Amino acid sequence: MRASGEAPGKIILLGEHAVVYGQPAIGVPLSRGVRVELSSGSGLRSVTLKKGIELSTRRGATTPQMLIDRALGALGDEVDVHVFFDIAPMSGLGSSAALAVALLRARDNFVGRKTSARARLDEAIAIEDVAHGKSSGVDPAIALAAGPILFSNDGVTKKVRTCAPPQPLHLVVGARGGHGGTGRSVGRVRDLKSQAPALIDQTMSLLGSASRTAAKAIATHDLDLLGRTMDLAHGVLSGLGLVSDAIEDVIRTARARGALGAKMSGAGGDGGAFVALAADRASAEKIRRGIVQLGALAWCETIS
Ligand code: MEV
Repeated sequence: MRASGEAPGKIILLGEHAVVYGQPAIGVPLSRGVRVELSSGSGLRSVTLKKGIELSTRRGATTPQMLIDRALGALGDEVDVHVFFDIAPMSGLGSSAALAVALLRARDNFVGRKTSARARLDEAIAIEDVAHGKSSGVDPAIALAAGPILFSNDGVTKKVRTCAPPQPLHLVVGARGGHGGTGRSVGRVRDLKSQAPALIDQTMSLLGSASRTAAKAIATHDLDLLGRTMDLAHGVLSGLGLVSDAIEDVIRTARARGALGAKMSGAGGDGGAFVALAADRASAEKIRRGIVQLGALAWCETIS
């Protein structure tokens, strides 16, 4: 018997880190992601990576095996599992959440189970926590979404609202190296909060306010405001020490090549993901070429 499941990677347009403190974040599922194939077998595992991407060899990095074990439990001994990564793992593109959701979809297809959307989100969060430590749940929520969402989690209630643009948005997304672990970056902000609680509370409120402003800008197709909001959030995240020089280079290049706004995306740290907003497809292509020349992985996404 055989079954498969897949799920998209993600970009956080606004609100990373603030979402851990109950503020809203805007997340966008990508055209690239993770696919899982299960077949009746004896517990064999294999991983295929798209050309140009690598599995992290960093000590303590989450392995696909850890997520497979948590998602499949005892079923894992009776099936062979093949995982295809179309996005770079551990780079802020949501590979852990995409793998968790793809595994759950494949498992349900394999055993003929139906799971409600709410239960699947909770299950995916529990699996992804292997990789992230306690997460806000934003990445699994995006991996389960069909389009952009506004997500928040106040610790009691997770809210997922669609945030569909009235006209297509042209983004350039990608990653430059691994970020070094979401738990580490989240821990860095937590440490700062213990030293300066009021300052970090205000900083997180500001980032949440940027998400709300961006959601309105998306709804009215105000690209100028959306881009400025991204730039502002990037500056704040940079000030929190979450942006490496390699990513600052990408952001400067994107802006020099005409991006309306550009920022780091996701956890940040040593390297990681980024997103730039372009006026149209031709401009996105020009930005992408500039970023690729730096040696980063980048591609264009049209979001509708
Ligand atoms: C990681 O993609 C997003 C963070 O806000 C962590 C989380 O929300 O769990 C950095």
